[in-house]
Amino acid sequence: MTVQPTRDDRFSFGLWTVGWTGQDPFGPPSRKPVDPVEAVQRLSDMGAYGITFHDDDLIPFDADANEREAILKKFKGALDETGLQVPMVTTNLFSHPVFKDGGFTSNDRNVRRFALRKVLRNVDLAAEMGAKTFVMWGGREGSEYDGSKDLSAAFDRMKEGIDTVAAYIKEKKYDLRIAIEPKPNEPRGDILLPTVGSALALINELEHGDIVGVNPETGHEQMAGLNFTHSIAQALWSGKLFHIDLNGQRSIKYDQDLVFGHGDLTSAFFTVDLLENGFPGGGPRYDGPRHFDYKPSRTDGYDGVWNSAKANMSTYLMLKERARAFREDPEVQSAMADSGILNLSEPTFSAGETTEDLLRDETTFEKFDADATAERSFAFVQLNQLALEHLMNAR
Ligand code: GCO
Ligand code: MN
Ligand code: MN
Repeated sequence: MTVQPTRDDRFSFGLWTVGWTGQDPFGPPSRKPVDPVEAVQRLSDMGAYGITFHDDDLIPFDADANEREAILKKFKGALDETGLQVPMVTTNLFSHPVFKDGGFTSNDRNVRRFALRKVLRNVDLAAEMGAKTFVMWGGREGSEYDGSKDLSAAFDRMKEGIDTVAAYIKEKKYDLRIAIEPKPNEPRGDILLPTVGSALALINELEHGDIVGVNPETGHEQMAGLNFTHSIAQALWSGKLFHIDLNGQRSIKYDQDLVFGHGDLTSAFFTVDLLENGFPGGGPRYDGPRHFDYKPSRTDGYDGVWNSAKANMSTYLMLKERARAFREDPEVQSAMADSGILNLSEPTFSAGETTEDLLRDETTFEKFDADATAERSFAFVQLNQLALEHLMNAR
């Protein structure tokens, strides 16, 4: 079963995803490179609305000005022809060996200055392409050995770099926001800003943090054993979920970048439920692109590449339908009521009540029967079983 997406679903893919040729640390590519124009056409034909890229995915690192112009002309031609958009652009600060100790936080100042120039040039390109989000993934910003970085200085330089880019965006009046993408490790032994929480904390320290948010990736949180739905929930709650990278990961190991839903399917169900249906009691909603950052398996040929791209969208849409059925089921609604889900929206203090009032209210403490109250069953297991039954289309 394949569910056909439309542009309104706002599905987007990185050029580096369908374009991944299968090179890994143990072997060379297993597929030939794909022409970006073909990627644009195929993605458009299968119902995606957007394509994203790193500067180097499209324009080789050492291309001269003429080559750059010719490549961009061809790519824009394909975009115009298909109507595919570029909602997000990002910078490669990790492939060239010059970035082996990072870009913004390399111990070598000349590398840091070069990295900033590369990013600022790419910000201009992002604005030119009409992108609304500029992702920053600092895959090489980190270390293998704790003694190899002055960590306080590293955070200073991270702040300096991101604030410089944000200030430049404001100065140029670009309609662009930055989204930091956390990852715990790989390619560095440990990467700075390993989780959504770490990125949110750094954003709070920035001068221009108002236009900086996060781009959480399913597998990256799961590589750290964390709950992806909780991570995006906190980002949403903080008004900082600017973009999202959906994919699949099976437990704590190397970054698998599997098709969305091919890792932890129950977690994927609740991710889609949150993105599509919002929090049970209301609250902030995500309205950005549904971006897939996956790698077509090295074992597949090009038929498998295009089929796996479709699989991401199809799985998402099937989960969306299942999540809708879950929320609409009267039995689920009464199970949610039994579990007290909506009670959490009620403030713990009554309107106008003060801490003094609480301290005086003997029913909250002196006369509170903790043992009797503890007998309540929250019945979360029954609620989860209902979710699984909907997920399996068994209801
Ligand atoms: C990864 C990352 C990257 C980033 C991308 C954006 O798999 O480790 O997800 O793919 O998303 O480089 O800058
Ligand atoms: Mn990844
Ligand atoms: Mn990613």
